[in-house]
Amino acid sequence: MKIIQVADQNEGGKVAVEILRSKLAEGAKTLGLATGSSPLSFYKELIESDIDLSDLVSVNLDEYVGLEADDPQSYHYFMNANLFSHKPFKKSFLPNGKAEDAEEETAAYNRILAENPVDFQILGIGTNGHIGFNEPGTSFDSQTHLVDLTPSTIEANARFFETIDQVPTQAISMGIANIMAAKSIVLFAYGKGKAQAIAGTVAGPVTEELPASVLQGHEDVMIIADAEALSLLDN
Ligand code: GLP
Repeated sequence: MKIIQVADQNEGGKVAVEILRSKLAEGAKTLGLATGSSPLSFYKELIESDIDLSDLVSVNLDEYVGLEADDPQSYHYFMNANLFSHKPFKKSFLPNGKAEDAEEETAAYNRILAENPVDFQILGIGTNGHIGFNEPGTSFDSQTHLVDLTPSTIEANARFFETIDQVPTQAISMGIANIMAAKSIVLFAYGKGKAQAIAGTVAGPVTEELPASVLQGHEDVMIIADAEALSLLDN
C-alpha cells in the first residue's frame, strides 16, 4: 500500500486526477466509482481537467434499495449531479435499487462487472472500515450482493436525509472480491472519524471484521488521506 498524505480534500482530488491520468496513459478504460463526500473533490477536479471520459465506461460500487434513480438521495442522482451531467462517460452502470428482484439484479451486476473489468477503482471508507457497502463480517470472497446496512452506517448516512427513518436499510453493493479484482485502487480518507478505520486498514490484521484491511493483499493500492485520518498510524 502506498500512503499519500495531503493537506486537504482539494489536494487529494488533484493528486488522484494525476494518478488517473497516468493510468489512462497505460490504457485504463473502465473506472470504478464511489459516492459519499470523500470522492467529491476528485470529481470536481476531474470535471475541470482536460481528461476526456467520453470513450470510457464507469461502474459504481453500490446503490440503495428502494430509491428511484431520480430520487435526490439515490446514488444514481449523486453521480449525475456530481459528475455525469458535467462529463458523461460512454456508458455508466449502477445497480438498480428499484429492481423487482434484487437477487436477480445482483447477478446481472456481476455479469456487467465480468464484461467491464475495472482498471481504476475509487473508494471511500466507512467509519467501521466498510468499503462499498461491505459491512464488517462480509466474506472476502463476496460478489455483488444484497446488504442489510448496520445501525452505524445508517446513522452515519442519516446526515444526507431529513430524518433517520428515511435512510434505506438495504443496499446492493459490489462484493469484496469484485473490488479486489480492480487493477488499481485509490482510497480517500479525510478527518478524525476515519482514523481508526485507516489504522486498521494499513497496520491491523487482515480480517473480515475490518473489510478495508483486505486491501493489504492488493498490489496497487494508494491511500490518499489527510493528517487527521492518518493520526492513529505510527510514522
Ligand atoms: C457510504 C458509501 C461508501 C462510502 C462511505 C463513506 O457508506 N456506501 O462507499 O465510502 O459512505 O462516506 P464519506 O466519504 O461521506 O465519509
